[in-house]
Amino acid sequence: MLEQSLLTNWQDKHAKLFDNHTILLTHKLNQTGLFTEDALAQLIDRCEPQHYNINTMGYDKNLLEWRAGEIGDLTGKQVIEAIRKGRMWMNLHRIMERDLEYKRVLDNIFDELEEKVPNLKTFKRNMTLLISSPNIQVYYHADIQGQSLWQLSGRKRVYVYPPTETFLSAKSLEKILLRETEEEVPYEPWFDDYAEIYDLEPGQMAHWPLYAPHRVENYDCLNISITTEHWTRDIWNAYAVNYGNGVLRRTLGFKNLSQNSSGFHIYPKAAAALLWKKLKLDQRNQFSHKVDFRVDLGAEKGMVDIAPYEKAA
Ligand SMILES: [Fe+2]
Repeated sequence: MLEQSLLTNWQDKHAKLFDNHTILLTHKLNQTGLFTEDALAQLIDRCEPQHYNINTMGYDKNLLEWRAGEIGDLTGKQVIEAIRKGRMWMNLHRIMERDLEYKRVLDNIFDELEEKVPNLKTFKRNMTLLISSPNIQVYYHADIQGQSLWQLSGRKRVYVYPPTETFLSAKSLEKILLRETEEEVPYEPWFDDYAEIYDLEPGQMAHWPLYAPHRVENYDCLNISITTEHWTRDIWNAYAVNYGNGVLRRTLGFKNLSQNSSGFHIYPKAAAALLWKKLKLDQRNQFSHKVDFRVDLGAEKGMVDIAPYEKAA
């Protein structure tokens, strides 16, 4: 039973569109009081280094020049101020594990969606907080699982591209799933001619189809958002097939592999995927983050360089 309906403009058509097309919905997450700057500052205060990443990036949307940092012993309030004046973004991972209130909201969201969308059964639900500076961007990328972006404060422009071979090749997708790369994939400026473009305001959320590449540009204001992630049986099947294809391509040199996520070929591919994972062969390819700046409220761009060190991803 839902404690509170969080979606405010749901129509019957959204049940058919969910997971298949991009949909823009309105929500009342801000009414929970859990996403004010004060509440989020307290959440940051309780955070350990492994619970977050904070990054900065360049200015060219075609160049992947980003760096990782640490917050040192700043308070959550100071971190938010530094992000407001700097050029950074901070992800707080799995916030539903930091505080049960967020878990309740996450469960509410998916319980409500499952009630509204026939046959939707989600698992491995996740919620990530994203606090980002004015005018920064999230590079062109795709995600491994179902993803929605919920805007809480500030404005951002979201570009969503078709989930087709043109915009995300099978090989690029396999690299993402095998974690040989972070989610970034090759981008060409002309892709924008084929994008759906949304200006996301507080109280709005966007949900797009699985593997639809997307990128985000903040307007000139601090942005606070959350992303929610979910898995379904179909998403798992697509993961197993594409992951399995990646393994077969790497081990047996297979080409022209089917991406169809139904039918008997799923099972050997899922087995190949699981075996690969079990053998931990993919561990070699896991990236790590080199931390080389510290957030500093007194510094001009809200950060100072420090001696680089490795932080496990
Ligand atoms: Fe994403």
